[in-house]
Amino acid sequence: MNVTNDIYRLLLGPSWSRVASARLEAAVGDRVVLVTGASSGIGARTAELLAGAGANVLLAARRVDELTVVADRIMAAGGRASAYRVDLAEPAEVDRLVEEVLADHGRVDVVVNNAGKSIRRSLADTADRFHDVTRTNAVNYLGPVRLVSGLLPQMRARGGGHVVNVSSLTVDLPSAHWAVYTASKAAFEAWLRCVAPEIRVDGVATTSIHFPLVHTAMSAPTYSTRLPGLTVDGAAEVIGRALVYRPRVLIPWWVRLAGLVADVAQGPYEAGQARVLRITGRT
Ligand SMILES: NC(=O)c1ccc[n+]([C@@H]2O[C@H](COP(=O)([O-])OP(=O)(O)OC[C@H]3O[C@@H](n4cnc5c(N)ncnc54)[C@H](OP(=O)(O)O)[C@@H]3O)[C@@H](O)[C@H]2O)c1
Repeated sequence: MNVTNDIYRLLLGPSWSRVASARLEAAVGDRVVLVTGASSGIGARTAELLAGAGANVLLAARRVDELTVVADRIMAAGGRASAYRVDLAEPAEVDRLVEEVLADHGRVDVVVNNAGKSIRRSLADTADRFHDVTRTNAVNYLGPVRLVSGLLPQMRARGGGHVVNVSSLTVDLPSAHWAVYTASKAAFEAWLRCVAPEIRVDGVATTSIHFPLVHTAMSAPTYSTRLPGLTVDGAAEVIGRALVYRPRVLIPWWVRLAGLVADVAQGPYEAGQARVLRITGRT
């Protein structure tokens, strides 16, 4: 048990609490679960948690060596896991992943769309780096749309499935220097919201989780480990809970509140940020 993590999750609210192992086993045992971005961080830990609860986990990312380490660890603990190399920014690789996992396992019951590229950069610094805008959208938006679109037909035909989207609170609280990352995350979520009613008809559920800070390799360059945040264990447990209860969305209550204020008072919200940028000289 990690006490700091548990206290932080109390602040996030009851819908972010740990779920009983028996419930998780009932929800994912014998399910085929594809976890993207499973070579590190939240994805790796989620794959381990779900495999421990009986799921057959398919791990996807670019770094095969890292995927193999995670898969070996799962299998050493008695679980089932397979590693698949994919660069989500490459459409042909995404199509190949869909073909491979369906050929190897016959079905995918759950997709955890977790892989992501983070980028924090000012507009001025982005001007001559448009390729980063393109790539961020390819990894966070277009690749996941292609992947999920490829896997949905078999879920719909079988009358069930679940797409879990690992998103960020920046979607609720748009902030300076996070434009490209936030827009790519918001774009995938908008796509998922639009298709949700179409696939719900066939019994396929969707969940988007707006995570606050999670201490991983991705967040380390930007946020001190002393800041309050979730551990990867805590984040994996939240994803586990989402698989059990299948909520439409999981957003910390204080993010919802702050997002509402930011929407209603958009002018002051932006003016406040502009003031901070002016004071810190980080425009
Ligand atoms: N950490 C946070 O504070 C935080 C907060 C909110 C949301 N999130 C979201 O949580 C998710 C997981 O991030 P993390 O914090 O666990 O960071 P992480 O450890 O850096 O994990 C990112 C994962 O995405 C994979 N990935 C990146 N580019 C890819 C590509 N082109 N094709 C396939 N896979 C790719 C990486 O694998 P390879 O490099 O092996 O390809 C890695 O497994 C991301 O979607 C992130 O936006 C994180």
